[in-house]
Amino acid sequence: MLTYFKASKIYPHRKVFALRNISLTIEQGEMVYMLGPTGSGKTTLLELAYRAQVPSFGQVTFMGKNLKHLSPAGVSAIRRQIGVIFQDYRLVPYRTSFENASLPLEVQGYSDKSIKKRLESIFSWLALENKRDLFPAELSGGEQQRVAIARAIASEPILLLADEPTANLDRETAHGIMSVLSTLHQRGMSIVFATHNEELTRKNPGRIIKLREGRIVSEG
Ligand SMILES: Nc1ncnc2c1ncn2[C@@H]1O[C@H](COP(=O)(O)OP(=O)(O)OP(=O)(O)O)[C@@H](O)[C@H]1O
Ligand SMILES: [Mg+2]
Repeated sequence: MLTYFKASKIYPHRKVFALRNISLTIEQGEMVYMLGPTGSGKTTLLELAYRAQVPSFGQVTFMGKNLKHLSPAGVSAIRRQIGVIFQDYRLVPYRTSFENASLPLEVQGYSDKSIKKRLESIFSWLALENKRDLFPAELSGGEQQRVAIARAIASEPILLLADEPTANLDRETAHGIMSVLSTLHQRGMSIVFATHNEELTRKNPGRIIKLREGRIVSEG
């Protein structure tokens, strides 16, 4: 479903490659860990997948479409199929947790009624029912991350990109988030999970791809 073909990324004002000659195919239904130290290119790799960046050389395709040549409508269409969880949550401070999670559905034109229906079941699954009217500043880190997960999965994406989603959480909370992702994977969602933490990759089975200095150094 997601393919990198000799993809490289060089940021214009820097001489170094953030990614170098990445060839990689992620199949539907896979759980893939991108494991690498800070600066190895994990975030850049995910950004290429949801078209936040385009490769300097090579190609990235999603569901057979080359992401480089997309109209704005084409970009919106692929982003509807891809959910993204950011390390720093990126919740809107003046929206409640429920309003934050509903944002992508609002943008996609869902009715208030269907948004409510979808989110209520997701909020209950994530044990967020009694947090729905709170603002991000009133939530713990683990709760904010669960709201970010609710937002990412609300539109039932076929691919979920998770960028260090547990990096700022304590061990127990991190394992709770991992088991949520594991359940989503068991239900058929493809997940790409970027992390520097090898321990997390041992908790739930998946393919482990190791990145160093922008290159794939091992592909499990
Ligand atoms: N917008 C940017 N402009 C210039 N250089 C960048 C930019 N984003 C990333 N880089 C560089 O590209 C390389 C890879 O960065 P990237 O953020 O993809 O790594 P990472 O593996 O996600 O690191 P971390 O674990 O710290 O999040 C780094 O050397 C970084 O400095
Ligand atoms: Mg990163």
